Amino acid sequence: MFEYLVPRQPDAIIALMQQCKADTNPDKIDLGVGVYKDDAGGTTILRAVKAAEQQLWNTETTKSYVGIRGNDDFRHSMLDLILGGDAGKISTDLMDRIASAQAAGGSGALRLGAELIKSAAPDATVWVSTPTWANHIPLISSAGLKMGKYPYYNRETLGVDFEDMVAHLSAKAKAGDVVLVHGCCHNPSGADLSPAQWDQLADFFVEKDLLPYVDLAYFGLGRGMSEDSYGLRKLVEICPEVMIAASCSKNFALYKERVGLIAVVCQDTDTAVIARSQLGSIQRKIISMPPDHGAKLVADILGDQKLRAMWVDELTEMRERMRDLRKQLSEALNVQGGETIAAAVKDQNGMFSTLPLSVDQARKLRSDFSIYMTDSGRINIAGANNRNIPRLAEAILSVL
Ligand SMILES: Cc1ncc(COP(=O)(O)O)c(C=O)c1O
Repeated sequence: MFEYLVPRQPDAIIALMQQCKADTNPDKIDLGVGVYKDDAGGTTILRAVKAAEQQLWNTETTKSYVGIRGNDDFRHSMLDLILGGDAGKISTDLMDRIASAQAAGGSGALRLGAELIKSAAPDATVWVSTPTWANHIPLISSAGLKMGKYPYYNRETLGVDFEDMVAHLSAKAKAGDVVLVHGCCHNPSGADLSPAQWDQLADFFVEKDLLPYVDLAYFGLGRGMSEDSYGLRKLVEICPEVMIAASCSKNFALYKERVGLIAVVCQDTDTAVIARSQLGSIQRKIISMPPDHGAKLVADILGDQKLRAMWVDELTEMRERMRDLRKQLSEALNVQGGETIAAAVKDQNGMFSTLPLSVDQARKLRSDFSIYMTDSGRINIAGANNRNIPRLAEAILSVL
């Protein structure tokens, strides 16, 4: 049977990782894959996670299944975290309107959500930004949904084309369609909507009867927890229905544990009861019980004052390190010809920025300088450090 299969190209980012790994230049700079790196280039386990793991090791008595929608404490504490704003808690009324399920990472959450859309509205089109995370279209379209693209990042101004985005959706999307938006730290551009634009977008979605699907993969790594959830909270306040795919891969550094959450804010509690049963049934058909370990750690961290404070400190440290690197790179690029990039790199949020480089320029940085970024010019700022930023800026300016 398998002799008829045709080989598939590995994902471009995986090929880039392999190429960087094989480069023996001790001064190579890896700005490729979307994993946070500390100053020494490591992706270490957070202290809060280690402490929660230690506690779990001492107290866990069974590895029996937890439940089809995962750990209740995880789901509820995550919803309080991402929707609760400064209060850190949502109302019982809102909680009752939400159907949620633990998922295998943000990717698993996106896919569960796509399957739910397919069950509820098989003819809906899911609109994604141009550009967007490379896996959005494969993940969502493989649930059998139609996909559309809306303009978002302007590679000349290095900002968001908000008016074009709204005009395009207004002209092309039909009532009942789904619009995937990045809650913060847009991947790959780092260019986020302003609070005023989120306000406008929420009204637009209601007016056009469009359903927002918020991908929240970098919560806490942009400007701060409250700032990073502003758009999501605004949508939940204004729109009758909202979908959320949240990941704990980056902000808890739990990448390989695969921790994510799909949450669907419904119009009323009766609909939420039905949506919960649907999410459970979809999960059952795909993976049955979700993995528990990472989600239990998140629940334990968020539910314990000491561990939570430790995690908030570590999250702040990661965020501030990236803000500082952005500032340093911006200063180094702020010379004739580099001003637009310098301003954008400083203002953008999270791990990524997309530099206005051609494929040839990105490849030249790889071949001549051992600086690794995707062909599209996306850099992971956390891959830089204060020792290599002067060389990085010089190399970028030299290929421009
Ligand atoms: C925008 C975006 N969404 C979702 C994900 C999924 O993350 P994971 O499945 O590793 O939790 C990523 C990962 O890079 C991402 O960048």
